[in-house]
Amino acid sequence: MEVIIQPSPEAAADWVARVVAVELRARPTLVLGLATGCTVEPVYARLARMHREEALDFSQCRTFNLDEYVGLSGDDPHSYRNYMNQHFFSKVNIDLRNTHLPDGAAPDPDAECEKYERLIAGAGGIDLQLLGLGLAGHLGFNEPLSAFRSRTRVKALSPLTLAQNAPLFSKLDEMPHRAITMGVGTILDCRRCLLLATGADKAEIVAQAVEGPMTGMISATALHWHPHCVVVLDEAAASRLKATDYYRWIYENEPEWEPFRANRPAQ
Ligand code: GLP
Repeated sequence: MEVIIQPSPEAAADWVARVVAVELRARPTLVLGLATGCTVEPVYARLARMHREEALDFSQCRTFNLDEYVGLSGDDPHSYRNYMNQHFFSKVNIDLRNTHLPDGAAPDPDAECEKYERLIAGAGGIDLQLLGLGLAGHLGFNEPLSAFRSRTRVKALSPLTLAQNAPLFSKLDEMPHRAITMGVGTILDCRRCLLLATGADKAEIVAQAVEGPMTGMISATALHWHPHCVVVLDEAAASRLKATDYYRWIYENEPEWEPFRANRPAQ
């Protein structure tokens, strides 16, 4: 795992978008894993801008989202399919047939989960997976005590997650209590993981995810098993970490990040 600390949420989102752009230009058929939530919205805005201004081409890219609420069809304004259409898919030249989310309205959710795993495998696996971090320490909707080897399945949402996401629903009783989510094991199989967390409210859970012991209570700690995982933070989200000098030293000295250091956004 590497920890990259950027001066602001904007710079952190820029950094993540630049990594995605570099990978997509190197491999136009990239299989991209996508996340939802407020944190990643600026990443999608930047990718859309790169598409408009720098001809970043998504025409051959295939995508798989982490999760979807059970009971919501893609037309539902609260569905993650709708979120993705609104924030990203409608803003770039991606072929919607190449974009995948679990179908929350599938009559047999368990069969839908198996189908989703087959689809990911059929695409050759996920090359680069974007991740946010829930206050419950979850990746996707892998709530506390999710097995580190879990695959795509239906999970009940924890009270903390329900509270975190409730403001996005106009009526609380409309909020589903279950979701289909890629498993922790599904995420660990992705070739590269890029987790973005910003803001002071994430500082404590970031510290536990990065520097705490591995525990099923915080599914993000499973990322320590991943051979190619980068955690990108702004200063506020990094504020409870103890070894920030070390992370900064590695970033300054790691050859892979040379083009990113040279191309720093204005601070
Ligand atoms: C939801 C999603 C997660 C996401 C989390 C963080 O729970 N299922 O994939 O990481 O929200 O959301 P935010 O970025 O809004 O804090």
